[in-house]
Amino acid sequence: MSFRHANDYVEDVSPGSGALPPRAWYAGSDARSLSLKGSWRFRLSPTADAEDDSFARTDYDAADWADISVPGHWVLQGHGAPIYTNHLYPFPVDPPRVPTENPTGDHLRFFDLPADWPAGGETVLRFDGVESCARIWLNGTELGEFKGSRLPHEFAAGRLLQPRGNVLAVRVHQWSAGSYLEDQDQWWLPGIFRDVTLLHRPVGSVPDFFVHASYDHLTGTGTLRVDSGVPGRVTVPDLGIDVAAGEPVTVPAEPWTAETPRLYDGVLAAEGERVPLRIGFRTVELSDGLIKVNGRPLLFKGVNRHEWHPGRGRALDLETMREDVLLMKRHNINAVRTSHYPPHPAFLDLCDEYGLWVIDECDLETHGFTEQGWRDNPVDDDRWTPALLDRAARMVERDKNHPSVVVWSLGNEAGTGRGLTAMAKWIRGRDASRLIHYEGDHNCRDTDLYSRMYAGHAEVERIGRGLDGGPRGRRELPFVLCEYAHAMGNGPGGLADYQRLFERHGRLQGGFVWEWIDHGIAHPELGYAYGGDFGEELHDGNFVCDGLLFPDRQPSPGLLEFKKVIEPVSVTGDAADGTVRVTNKYDFAGLSALAFTWSYEVEGEPVESGTLAVPALAPGESAEVKLPAVPAGAPAGESHWTIRAVLASDTAWAPRNHVVAWGQIPVSERRVPYVAATARPAPGDGAISLGPAVFDARTGALRTVGEVPVTGLRLDVWRATTDNDDGAAWQGDPRHGLLWRSLGLHRMRHRVDAVEVGEDALTVRTRVAPAARELGLSAVYRWTSDGDRLRLTVSTCPEGEWTVPLPRLGIRFGLPAADRVHWYGGGPGEAYPDTRQAASVGRWRSTVDGMQTPYVRPQENGARIDVRWAELGGLRIEGDPAFFLTARRWTTEQLDAAAHRTDLVPGAAAGGGSTAGVWVNLDHGQHGIGSQSCGPAPLPRYRLKAEPAEFSFVFSTTPGTGES
Ligand code: GAL
Repeated sequence: MSFRHANDYVEDVSPGSGALPPRAWYAGSDARSLSLKGSWRFRLSPTADAEDDSFARTDYDAADWADISVPGHWVLQGHGAPIYTNHLYPFPVDPPRVPTENPTGDHLRFFDLPADWPAGGETVLRFDGVESCARIWLNGTELGEFKGSRLPHEFAAGRLLQPRGNVLAVRVHQWSAGSYLEDQDQWWLPGIFRDVTLLHRPVGSVPDFFVHASYDHLTGTGTLRVDSGVPGRVTVPDLGIDVAAGEPVTVPAEPWTAETPRLYDGVLAAEGERVPLRIGFRTVELSDGLIKVNGRPLLFKGVNRHEWHPGRGRALDLETMREDVLLMKRHNINAVRTSHYPPHPAFLDLCDEYGLWVIDECDLETHGFTEQGWRDNPVDDDRWTPALLDRAARMVERDKNHPSVVVWSLGNEAGTGRGLTAMAKWIRGRDASRLIHYEGDHNCRDTDLYSRMYAGHAEVERIGRGLDGGPRGRRELPFVLCEYAHAMGNGPGGLADYQRLFERHGRLQGGFVWEWIDHGIAHPELGYAYGGDFGEELHDGNFVCDGLLFPDRQPSPGLLEFKKVIEPVSVTGDAADGTVRVTNKYDFAGLSALAFTWSYEVEGEPVESGTLAVPALAPGESAEVKLPAVPAGAPAGESHWTIRAVLASDTAWAPRNHVVAWGQIPVSERRVPYVAATARPAPGDGAISLGPAVFDARTGALRTVGEVPVTGLRLDVWRATTDNDDGAAWQGDPRHGLLWRSLGLHRMRHRVDAVEVGEDALTVRTRVAPAARELGLSAVYRWTSDGDRLRLTVSTCPEGEWTVPLPRLGIRFGLPAADRVHWYGGGPGEAYPDTRQAASVGRWRSTVDGMQTPYVRPQENGARIDVRWAELGGLRIEGDPAFFLTARRWTTEQLDAAAHRTDLVPGAAAGGGSTAGVWVNLDHGQHGIGSQSCGPAPLPRYRLKAEPAEFSFVFSTTPGTGES
C-alpha cells in the first residue's frame, strides 16, 4: 500500500480551478450582498493532508474547534507563529513542491440567508484575499481552489445555497506552489485575511464594466465611455451625461489629478442592477520621454505601502486604510506604490477620493531564486505563465476603473523572463491607458519607465543628465526610483539631496520611499516584535521595521523630514533685501487653497505675526514677495522670519491652518556667549573650585556646578549604531558601524595626563583611545569662569591614522535627575546632519522621555540640532558654536545593547555603578545618517571627519527646584 503525501492542487503551478473570470470590484451596487466577516470555527493541522475532507459536510461537528476572526491571520490569533524573511524562502527551494510541514487551517462558517434574500439570479461567493491557497466547499460540495493571496476570487454559489443552515468550509494551506510567487519581504501570514462576501447577481446584472474617462487638456474636455457586458445607460448628472453603455461622449469637464481629485458621481444602470460610478477624467501618456498626465509631467513624491496593522497584520479595516491616506496627504505625499501586491480594493477608492497617484503592483515576487542564480525562476518557465497571467488579469480587472491607478507594475524582484513579457503584453492589450512598470529588468524590455531601487545620488544624477548609457530604448525612458531612502530605524538621510536632483532634471520623475510603515507585531513583553522573536529558524531581524511610521502609525522623524523635503511650496530668501521668493511646486494646482502667514521671531520667541499676500502662481511659477517692515520695538537678538503656507479652509484630509510648507529666513545673527576668565582656580582638600564649580583635584573631573552634581563628564565619540550605520550585509561600501566597532570606538579609554591649575584656568589633558589600537584622540579640557558661569573649551585632535569618520564628537555627562527640557535651537524633533530639513529654529520644550524616538530596535536617536542653549536638570548650557543636544535615562552603552524598547530601564537603576539618572550628550558634530541599511551611505559632506576641533560650552545653574 502506498500513501501519497503530496497534495496535487497545493503543489500545482496552475492558478486553480472553479473560480469565475475576474471582473471589476465595486463596493456598493444596489444588488444585495452578505458579508461573512466575523467569528468562524477554526482547526489547525500541521500538514496539508492530516485531516480528511469530511469537515466540509453540513453535519460536521466542529464544537471542539477554536473560534477565529475572519478576516484575520491565524498566526496572529494564537495558532502557530509568524515567520519573517526578507527574500529567503523559509522552505527548501524545489518548485513547485512544498514541505510536508504545511500548517493547514480549516475554517467553517455557518450562516443563514437574510429572509428577504432575492430569489432568482445567481449568487457568487467572493474571497478578497486568502494566503496562500484555499479550497472551498459550500454545503458539502466543492466549489474549487485557488492561489494568488492578495487577489480576488469568486465562485458561483447560488445553486448550492439554502435559506438556512449553510455551511461554508474553507481549507487554507500556508504553503503552496503559489508561495514561490509570493516571496515578498514581509511576514508570512497565512489565513483568510480579507473579506468574504456573498454577492447576489440579479438577472440582467452587470457582469463587468470598464470606465474609460480621458481628459483633453487642450480643449478642457473629458471623454467618457463605459463598456459593460450588457445593455445599460450611463448617467452623470453633474455633466448632463445620459448615454448608452459603450457609447462615447465628450463634455467640458474638470480633470482628475492627485492634487485636484475631481470625481464625478455617475450610475451605470443595466436591466437588473445599478452600479455607482466615481469617474475621474485623466489621460496618462508617455510623451517627450516623460510620464505626463493631462499633458503635464508629474513628480512622484511617493511611498511604498505594504498593508500593515501591528495587531491584525495585513487584515486591514477601512479606518486604518483611511488613516494611511490621511497621513500621506497631511505629509505632502502624492503617490503610493502598492508594494508588492494589489491592496485591499477599498484603499484604491480612498486614493481616488483624496487624491494619490498609484502604481498598482501585481502579487508577484520570486526573489529567493537569486540564491541559485535565478535557476528555475518561475517567471522564466512557461509552465508558470498561466499563473502569472492569471495574477495580472485579476489585478487589472479588479482595479481598472480607478483614476488614481496610473501605472501597472508587473511585480517586484522576480528576475527576468518570458512570463513577465507575457504579462506586459496581456496588460497592454487589455488596458492601453496606463503605463507599465517593473524594476527587475534594467533593460526595460517590457516597461514604459526606467525604474531602479536604492541607486545613490551620484548615479541618479548621471541618469538625470542622460549619461547612464544602457540600451537605446531605456535611454529614452523617464526614470523613477521605485524604492529609495530606506527608512529603517533612524533615517533615512539624504532625502533633500535626492529631491534636489529630482527637481533639477526633468527625466527624474521622483521616487517612492521604502517604506510606509514598520511591520512590528504588537507583543506583550517586547513592545513590538520583529524577525527572530518567534523563534524562526531563518529570519531577517528588524529589517521588517523600515517604515516612515512606527507600527502604531505615529509619524517617525523620517516622515516629518520627508514632508518638509517634498513640500509643494518653497519659501526662500534673503532678509537683507526684505523679500522672499515663493515657488509653486505643485504639478497641477494653483495656490488658491493656501494662505500665507509670517512671523517675526527674536531668540525663538514670536514678536509679531500677520498674513502675507502671495500672488496666484501657476504650477512651476515663482514670485518675489515683499516682507513687512521689521516690527518696531522688536528686542535685539538673533532673529528670523518664519513664513508658513497653511490650508486656507478645511479640506477632506486636514483642517484649516494645517501647515503645508514653511521657510525660515535668518535676519540677524546670534551673539556667542562670552565669559571673562576672571575667577581663579582654587585648590584645596582634594578638590579644586573654580567659580560655581568644584573639580576632583587628582583627575580634574567636574563634580558639581552650583548645587548640581555632575558625573562622568568627558569626551564622547560613540553612538549606539543605527541600522544605517550598521548597513546591510551586502553593502560593498564601507559600513561605518562595523568599522567603528572593530576599531573599538565603543570602548574608549580615557587617560589623564595632566591636571594643570593655572592663573585663570583649570586645564585637564587627556588621551582617549581604544584598547589594542594605536589611534586615538588627544582631548584638552580648559575650564574658566567669571565667578557665576563656567566655560569649558574642548580641544581635540586625532592621533594615528584615522581612515573612518567619527560617530559623534562632543561631551557627555550624567545628572542625578532631569525631566523638563527647554531649549533654543532646532526643533521640535530629532535631526542629524542629513536629516535636518524639518528642524526649525525656535524655543522648544519637551521632557527627557519625550525626546526619545521610539525606534523598534533601539539605536542612536533624539538629537536636537543647532541648539544655542538648553536648560535641564538645574543647568543652563550655552554652546559656542551651537550643538546637538541629547538627553536620555540610560547610557549609550545600554541603548546600544538593547534589542527592544522594553530592554531600556530608566535611571540609576539601570546600573553601571553610577548615580546618574539622566545622561546628556552635547555634540559638536554627528556623523550623517544615510540609508545604508539598504541604500547609500551618508554623502561625503555629511561625514564627521576625524580632524582637529575646538568647541565650548558655558554652564550655569537655573534658579528654582533644579528643574527648568
Ligand atoms: C527591496 C525590496 C523590498 C524590501 C527592500 C528592503 O529590495 O523590493 O521589498 O525588501 O528592498 O527593505
